[in-house]
Amino acid sequence: MNDELSWEEWEALCEMMNGYIKTQVLSTACDLGVFDVIERGATLASLAERLEIDEHGCRVLLLGLRQLKLVSVSETGAITNAPLARRCLLRNAQQSMVPFVRLNDQIQHRACLHFTQALREGRNAGLDEFPGDAPTLYGRMATDPSLERLFHEGMGAYTRLSPRMMAMEEFGSVSRLLDVGGGDGTNAIRLCERYPSLKVTLIDLPSVIEKARANIEAHGLADRVTCEAVDMFTDPWPSGCDGVIFSHVLEIFSPAKIQSLYRKTRAYLDDNGQLFVWSLMCNDDEDGNLQSIKSSLYFVTVASGEGMAYPVADHVRWLSEAGFVDVTKYDARSIDHCALVAR
Ligand SMILES: C[S@@+](CC[C@H](N)C(=O)[O-])C[C@H]1O[C@@H](n2cnc3c(N)ncnc32)[C@H](O)[C@@H]1O
Repeated sequence: MNDELSWEEWEALCEMMNGYIKTQVLSTACDLGVFDVIERGATLASLAERLEIDEHGCRVLLLGLRQLKLVSVSETGAITNAPLARRCLLRNAQQSMVPFVRLNDQIQHRACLHFTQALREGRNAGLDEFPGDAPTLYGRMATDPSLERLFHEGMGAYTRLSPRMMAMEEFGSVSRLLDVGGGDGTNAIRLCERYPSLKVTLIDLPSVIEKARANIEAHGLADRVTCEAVDMFTDPWPSGCDGVIFSHVLEIFSPAKIQSLYRKTRAYLDDNGQLFVWSLMCNDDEDGNLQSIKSSLYFVTVASGEGMAYPVADHVRWLSEAGFVDVTKYDARSIDHCALVAR
């Protein structure tokens, strides 16, 4: 038997062993604001000077960024941003993902280093990175305002990136939408901008509601969006809505908790009401892509100690068991998401 590794096997192994390097190069570049400096025109010497790092370090960083195809260097030494860097990695770009890169680095990646321990101990061991006693990341962030701000800025950037959720025309027939775990109001604001007659009641934990209120007021939407501190599991929900949305919320929790939220929604809505789900989901054969795997690791290792990017079929079954009919699926497989509307 030939026991030499083939080139393909070696390459596959390297990809797995070294994948974190891509994440680290991206995080460091965003921390330093490299793309913003390059956008104003740069060479190795001027980049090093403006970043206040030595040229050798700058060469190493550029080696990584060129491999990621985020920058290129001309024969004359001029460094330029690739279109993707210009679109998503400048701090003030409309679709900037810099806040999410920060969330990824300081919460998700940091906590996921505890994955083995989380599996062995059957608990979200990554939470040990964040002081406090609360059993979920959300509870711990409530006592750490800067971490909570970083989290919601990142989530807002991530959620804003996808047009698919906003495009469910069924929102047009809803008068008032209950946005459960609505975060800093990013979705409520976008939905109100797109659907001019829509009103929203946003519920979330108390510290998050303060952020949502400030954000809604800053967008001049206080007359259309009300925000209330409500625990989605244990408190009654504010009345008066004919639609309910869970965006990036259900997948954080166990199947039993999702089923109880679906039953609670069914009992809350009248027979003409509509339920909207926007969630990370894996393929029905559980052969997921990187985003669904990454988020599942994050839920298990830190966010809640449970949860997963469940298959679409699981959600459809749970909805039917809770008494919903007519489930429409809007696939967003390219980003490991699916949108569902149930009546
Ligand atoms: C991943 S964020 C999603 C935010 C927003 N919906 C979005 O799509 O960007 C999950 C949200 O659920 C909220 N949350 C977690 N547990 C909650 C609970 N028990 N009651 C109400 N909100 C909760 C968190 O505070 C957080 O804002």
